[in-house]
Amino acid sequence: MKAILSCTLLFLALAANISGQTAPITADEAHHRAEALLKQMTIEEKVGQMNQSSGIVMPLLASEKPDNLIVQGKVGSILWLIDVKEINRLQHLAVDKSRLHIPILFAFDVIHGYRTVFPIPLAMAASWDPGVEEAAQHLAGEDARAAGIRWTFTPMVDIARDSRWGRIVEGAGEDPYLGAAMARAQVRGFQGESLGPDSVVACVKHFAGYGAAEGGRDYDSSYVPEELMQNVYLVPFHAAEQAGAGSFMSAYMDLNDVPATGNHWLLTDVLRKQWGFKGFVVSDAWAVGALQTHGYAKDPEDAAFKAVTAGLDMDMASLTYPKYLAGLVHSGKVKEAQLDAAVLPILEVKYELGLFDHPYVDESKVDSTLSRPEGRELERKVAARSMVLLKNDKHTLPLAKSIKKIAVIGALADSVRDIEGGWTVEGLFGGGSKSNPVTILAGLKNKLGPGTEINYVAGPSPVRLFPSLFDAISGTKPPPPPTDAEIAESIAKAKAAAAGADVVIAVVGETAVMSSESASRASMELPGIQQQMLEAAASTGKPLVLVLENGRPVDVQWASKHIPAILEAWYPGTEGGNAVADVLFGDVNPGGKLPISWAHSAGEEPLYYNHNLTHEPEDRPNFTSRYWDVSSKPLYPFGYGLSYTSFKFDHLRLSKTTMTTGDATEVQVDVTNTGKLAGDAVAQIYIHQRWGSASRPVRQLKGFKRIALQPGETQTLKFTLGKDELEFWSPQTKAWAVEPSTFDVWAGEDSTASLHAELSVTE
Ligand code: NOJ
Repeated sequence: MKAILSCTLLFLALAANISGQTAPITADEAHHRAEALLKQMTIEEKVGQMNQSSGIVMPLLASEKPDNLIVQGKVGSILWLIDVKEINRLQHLAVDKSRLHIPILFAFDVIHGYRTVFPIPLAMAASWDPGVEEAAQHLAGEDARAAGIRWTFTPMVDIARDSRWGRIVEGAGEDPYLGAAMARAQVRGFQGESLGPDSVVACVKHFAGYGAAEGGRDYDSSYVPEELMQNVYLVPFHAAEQAGAGSFMSAYMDLNDVPATGNHWLLTDVLRKQWGFKGFVVSDAWAVGALQTHGYAKDPEDAAFKAVTAGLDMDMASLTYPKYLAGLVHSGKVKEAQLDAAVLPILEVKYELGLFDHPYVDESKVDSTLSRPEGRELERKVAARSMVLLKNDKHTLPLAKSIKKIAVIGALADSVRDIEGGWTVEGLFGGGSKSNPVTILAGLKNKLGPGTEINYVAGPSPVRLFPSLFDAISGTKPPPPPTDAEIAESIAKAKAAAAGADVVIAVVGETAVMSSESASRASMELPGIQQQMLEAAASTGKPLVLVLENGRPVDVQWASKHIPAILEAWYPGTEGGNAVADVLFGDVNPGGKLPISWAHSAGEEPLYYNHNLTHEPEDRPNFTSRYWDVSSKPLYPFGYGLSYTSFKFDHLRLSKTTMTTGDATEVQVDVTNTGKLAGDAVAQIYIHQRWGSASRPVRQLKGFKRIALQPGETQTLKFTLGKDELEFWSPQTKAWAVEPSTFDVWAGEDSTASLHAELSVTE
């Protein structure tokens, strides 16, 4: 922990050196300047600020040359452009040649790193350490800013209760409390305490309910009643808004039959009126135009009308605003005041970022900033901190460094393309990752040196099962599926390598493109022939360690019964292979915990721990809520994760066991390291309200802390249960309130914790 903190401080110091040329201006000053500028703008120039052009397709779609559009003040922001020279050239056109000299805000999806790629967001949530997520996003922001990107489409805070949905990889999992903590951390990481010349503007997405897509099919409609929106799906959004996020992104899908991009309730009633949001809202890509596709808008003009009057300030790439908005104002259908309300926060953000004073990138510093070695050092720590030990029978792990012969099995073990996960800026738009990532095979070699023989059997890449998917993402011809002969040969080689080794390390999972946008799966089974290779290796009886590289839970029912040790490594990022080796060989004791409930199989989804109680829960004798074929409980519960040491939780006590609704109680619990190694525990506090104006979930996370403990050491941790933790939005009263009731309180290592206390809350 200390090491991580000192890294964070180092980066903050470094950040001050890299930037710092521009004195920050206050929000008030930014507001006054923006207001003054707005008064000079024509309707067309206002619409220009509300247009975000797409760097890749701008030249193809626009009727006029992009340069002309910029000079005419018709482009407020550009996304999907990372060529620094081109960024500067276009910025010069805007600043030098347009009438009002308004700089362009360049945007990109810096989701978990720019050149140094951090673990996927789901993994960082598994660290249960908002501090490391903040440090990682701070560094990502530094890199992005050095490369000219001042606005990132992060954090993605969609609650995901269904692992079939591929975008579960981009968020913090299923829980609103953990999700809110990670949302705040990311906003702080990119923006700092407030927007200023060192900030990259955060964009909270996808507003809202996107993760509730029916059947886990990406983009499909969500039907979410208001009580679920308020108590679950909106919680991390509100937390990010309160942390000062400068922008929001509307989601693609229909929410309760009204597409989110044209949804007045979301964009105006909740975001502006209930929460008082002062930033601006951009649509998801092409989503304004898609209001027609949804069958909500009559035609593109109606789409522009419906979006802008719902409260959508900027059109990402669909060119609907630039084509129709000025006409709608001239004809009186849309009031100019509506444009002013949209443009003002966009200009304010540009002023707060210092873009008017320093619009250009210092091209000479880009490469040295992006290749700072401190970035990789931090990445390795964050990656190891995010890993979750799912199983470790008979102390199989950590492995001894003196092992002489290791068999490594699985194509993912040496896949440069997959170790960093799906969102790599330069990987996607720069024609290949420039970070030179360390694969798991390379990490093992680095750790062990020449004294250990490593016999590697890759087998066919799991993506070869899905040739069409591979084709769509890469634009290259898909490799053919493996032939029967190749399959038989790979399985035989895996078995032979295992038979000749002291220890087998099998690396299995999904390729990175399998869990991302438009990447839902109906089955959680390991794709390709990974399962067969695994079973062949296990049949030798050699000690076997399973390392998972994936962005969503996969079906490990067989492995959970037959393999002694399972480590969830996720897509661990640029230094991922070294981090995996650190954990496997005990240089780092794993302390990550699952931010999701891990199902047995896809048929159980959606699956989440904070569900309501049925009248016949599964553990009653008859007519219970159950499946014939699997337990309706998860294989591994939310919050779960092992360590190489063990912990004891006791003396759960409340400062008040009875209190009134306006009061708060302190919760204390003692946590002791009862094993022989130093390690991290994550203390978790759950509550349940026994009765009230609505049924409440069986458990809800309401506090957590990750702490480092030496063997034998005990720490007493303190948490608070007050208004923020006990209140909920009731469908009966349509309001937030703490209700008189009896509350169960649990403390422990995961969502099944049994250490219990009771709290009575009276009027
Ligand atoms: C579509 C995705 O849904 C969104 O998350 C992303 O930020 C935009 N494209 C821009 O790349």
